[in-house]
Amino acid sequence: MSDYPAMQARFVADIGAAADLDALEALRVAALGKAGSVSALLKTLGGMSPEERQVQGPQIHALREAVTTAIADRKAALEGAALEARLAGERLDMTLPADAAPRGSVHPVSQVMDELAEIFADMGFAVATGPEIEDDWHNFTALNIPETHPARAMHDTFYFPTQMNDAAGRAMLLRTHTSPVQIRTMMSDEPPIRIIAPGRVYRSDSDATHTPMFHQVEGLVIDRGIHMGHLKWTLETFLKAYFERDDIVLRLRPSYFPFTEPSAEVDVGYRQEKGRRIVGGSGDDEGHAWMELLGSGMVNRRVIANCGLDPDEWQGFAFGVGVDRLAMLKYGMDDLRAFFDGDLRWLSHYGFGALSVPTLSGGISA
Ligand code: DAH
Repeated sequence: MSDYPAMQARFVADIGAAADLDALEALRVAALGKAGSVSALLKTLGGMSPEERQVQGPQIHALREAVTTAIADRKAALEGAALEARLAGERLDMTLPADAAPRGSVHPVSQVMDELAEIFADMGFAVATGPEIEDDWHNFTALNIPETHPARAMHDTFYFPTQMNDAAGRAMLLRTHTSPVQIRTMMSDEPPIRIIAPGRVYRSDSDATHTPMFHQVEGLVIDRGIHMGHLKWTLETFLKAYFERDDIVLRLRPSYFPFTEPSAEVDVGYRQEKGRRIVGGSGDDEGHAWMELLGSGMVNRRVIANCGLDPDEWQGFAFGVGVDRLAMLKYGMDDLRAFFDGDLRWLSHYGFGALSVPTLSGGISA
């Protein structure tokens, strides 16, 4: 019969002295591995008489227990020490003075949202916001998208578990568009209303041109006697100011959205130059084509009524456009995913100086 206490003492001493995780792993294999010495002892149990096994079994199992525990303890100690060393090495002294040259930059999405706010402020629009965690009434039902409407399925919605339904029993979700801000604004403000609502939206979709989170800006005007002419003028004025050129040509194409009636998809003319799309000119011109840019229309009477307003008195138009896409078109990025990688090289290449605030008088993207 082996001297188990002596073996245990030797193992525990070696394990306690293991200098790193590799050395510890070598000891574990030597003791508990397939061909390890403790494993070999466990195998001898099979050949023992019942009496012998009754005496030696508990001792061998105790030995294995002790070795296993010693290894786990040493492993935790080594990992803790490694973490401490890393933390000490990565320490930042927050009391040091800031770098003289500012290194941060404004993300293109923030820049474009600032540009939009500036352009629309000049036309008398205020900036409105709404929650990113919405309920399905504001995101869908009030916008004339009932439960059975195919648009609900088309939106690839991220829903929260039903236990998180709100007090009114409404399902909670990540808003799939900025259109619910139309509803919130019509319910909280007295018309006339002129707002844009920029912000994050979410859909379960991901490839080079789709990310699960992206940005939209919604526009809403509610007043008396509003018609499609106001919509077209507003979009034209906005896009000319945004792209900083006068030759922007729009094409309104009949379309369908549940919350607008009639609805129009808006295309802009562009041409391809050195692999980039340059907005400008009519899509029917030589060397030009049309590109779909945004959705719009006259606010559906039912949506106005859902917000407690009288649709015979109040009319309006609305539009929705992708902010990331606007940024890509103006500043020439080609992969949407890079927008949200947080890569400092990308940010310093496409980012904007923190002090260059867009103004209409100073040049919108200067
Ligand atoms: N909410 C639509 C979407 O996300 C975009 C949109 C279309 C907004 C037409 C509007 C509109 O306000 O009138 O696809």
